[in-house]
Amino acid sequence: MTDKLWGGRFTAKAAKWVDQFGASIGFDQQMAQEDLEGSLAHVAMLGQQGIIPQADADTITAGLHQLQQQLAAGELTFTVANEDIHLNMERLLTDLIGPVAGKLHTARSRNDQVATDFHLWLRHRLPELMQALSDLQSVLVAQADQHADTIMPGYTHLQHAQPITYGHYLLAYFEMFQRDYERFAFNQQHTDILPLGAAALAGTTFPIDREFVAAQLGFSAVYHNSLDAVSDRDFALEFLSNAAILMQHLSRLAEELILWCTYEFNYIEMSDAFSTGSSIMPQKKNADFAELTRGKTGRVYGALMGLLTTMKSLPLAYNKDMQEDKEPVFDAYTTILGSVHIFTGMLDSLTVHEERMHDATIRDFSNATELADYLATKGVPFRKAHAIVGELVLHGLQTGQSLQDMPLADLQAAAPEIDQDVYAELSSEAAVNRRTSLGGTAVANVRQEVSQARALLAAR
Ligand code: ARG
Repeated sequence: MTDKLWGGRFTAKAAKWVDQFGASIGFDQQMAQEDLEGSLAHVAMLGQQGIIPQADADTITAGLHQLQQQLAAGELTFTVANEDIHLNMERLLTDLIGPVAGKLHTARSRNDQVATDFHLWLRHRLPELMQALSDLQSVLVAQADQHADTIMPGYTHLQHAQPITYGHYLLAYFEMFQRDYERFAFNQQHTDILPLGAAALAGTTFPIDREFVAAQLGFSAVYHNSLDAVSDRDFALEFLSNAAILMQHLSRLAEELILWCTYEFNYIEMSDAFSTGSSIMPQKKNADFAELTRGKTGRVYGALMGLLTTMKSLPLAYNKDMQEDKEPVFDAYTTILGSVHIFTGMLDSLTVHEERMHDATIRDFSNATELADYLATKGVPFRKAHAIVGELVLHGLQTGQSLQDMPLADLQAAAPEIDQDVYAELSSEAAVNRRTSLGGTAVANVRQEVSQARALLAAR
């Protein structure tokens, strides 16, 4: 027998490097609180079911409470020799209350224990993340309200396409973060299932009460199949997948904000609080935090790819490979929470150069569709209208005129259907405000979307 908690059938000590390589305590100590919580529920059940004497259950409970206090006070020290958080806690409990601590592991395995800790860990943290997402959405709505009529170029292929409002643009991101929010809400459902009671893989011979443990720990359901309970990491993969999609949204927003801060665009200016300078160039003001978030997208994608690959082809049930599940989730959680906070503050504090945005829509031919639509309403087939306006655009490019600068006679030479009333329709304001189709960019639509978005957030 060796000195490991599982050392009964072993005669030789672990090879050099093995303890270090095999240990997870370096990172799974983040689940220390959850490990104690799970043990408290388990021992309450063992006592209640008469699986161990109530007096022993009470002694263990008192010991676990003491460990909770020591943990909160930062007084617990963990060692690699004890491998992971579960064995470290068991050892600490044994040091505290003696061999009766060994009864805690009755009808339990580290396989269902680690799965339970991990579910608890994520379940405890999703609300804070979702609150942060709500805060980000609130800022987007407030800014969209303020900029419901701030006109800017809308792009396709990063070329000026049609005028839109900055409010409409911001609400597009509101929608993306709404879907993120809903995905995390769904993720909560699959995280809210208790694995404990599956034991190693097959269930247990002891008369356990899994529903009691679930109620103690606040889980809404228990896993139905013991093999699935200890093998399932879908909840972690769903979290990482949701995190990756969220980062994709943030990185797209980051990219646009970074572009818009450039001298060439100059649509916005970041507040000093969310910018950094250069150590050599005194004039610099860099959008570092948008860039860093864009960069961190890579690490979150990596976390998802890593765990997907770890889980690929794993036979049921527990395999040590699965110890690799925690670091990507812990890291992605910290990364996305930080990124969402950063964007909330950044969007709330940036300055919008409204004039500059609006001016960018005036001589860019982004009203060409207006003229084509105008002709179409006068009975010209849209295809033909498109061709006529295309030729007028070419003429304008060659002569240095915008469509609204061309004399009526020139316009009528191209299409006799054109009248004096065309000019009113060629302004960016008209282009925006005529887009009242459901989901369109008209100011009235944006204001309505803002109030709907507010109601949605208020109902949370
Ligand atoms: N440290 C392990 C992990 O994180 C705990 C489960 C170990 N179970 C086992 N049978 N070796 O996955």
